[in-house]
Amino acid sequence: MAESWDSIADGYAARLRDGSALHEFNRDALLAHLPERLDGQRVLDLGCGEGIIARAVAARGASVVGIDPSPAMIAHARAQGTGVDYAVDDGCVLSTVSDCSVDRVTAGLSLNNVPDLDAALAAVRRVLVPHGSLVLTIPHPCFEAPHAAWTTDGDGTARRVVGQYLDEGFWRSADPGSVRRAGNQHRTLATVLTALLRHGFVLEAVAEPPPTARLAAARPERAALPPFLAVRARRGE
Ligand SMILES: C[S@@+](CC[C@H](N)C(=O)[O-])C[C@H]1O[C@@H](n2cnc3c(N)ncnc32)[C@H](O)[C@@H]1O
Repeated sequence: MAESWDSIADGYAARLRDGSALHEFNRDALLAHLPERLDGQRVLDLGCGEGIIARAVAARGASVVGIDPSPAMIAHARAQGTGVDYAVDDGCVLSTVSDCSVDRVTAGLSLNNVPDLDAALAAVRRVLVPHGSLVLTIPHPCFEAPHAAWTTDGDGTARRVVGQYLDEGFWRSADPGSVRRAGNQHRTLATVLTALLRHGFVLEAVAEPPPTARLAAARPERAALPPFLAVRARRGE
């Protein structure tokens, strides 16, 4: 049977509970694009999963709502009970979120899972106040394209092999250890950035954070490539 986010939620939550260097690196790469303090601000965490980013944003003083279409993920998030409200919702619709009701949207490794990026960006734009901002991270499209693999040179240097960068759409990893066995929507870098511009977002930052020493120690093959792309975009008029 094909895996879904619901069916892998227990394993995903356990992995993060054990302190996944990759997911904590992603969280910090996203937080780097938010102010240190968010007191009085309303933040929507889109595709919150078990809540790693929602909790961190709440710790900066924001009032946070996390949404995710996976009831099992939301159950894990609620079980942590740390002052964040959660709802089961689809990021392409955001039916539980009112128009112009949040100052910021965070989306950590989730917009690469929505089947319709245009619908999701229209929904994000609808719920943001004018000039509100979206901070997103996605697996780096250039290095995490469908079925990208690792190989090793004769001298032991790890290299990423990418062959299907231009094949946009849904794909599923065959690796039983990869969360992307639940599926992933691959889009090129240009598709992602031009979609933001088309929906009236102003790009404020585009980053390819280099792995930290901790991540490089935990995942040596990743030491020389940015695993994620981070973007901060402001809602224009
Ligand atoms: C890799 S996890 C990231 C979770 C969390 N943001 C984190 O950093 O750990 C991807 C999440 O995207 C969610 N997702 C899948 N389809 C979605 C959709 N249509 N709208 C919003 N989230 C979605 C999944 O349920 C899953 O929780």
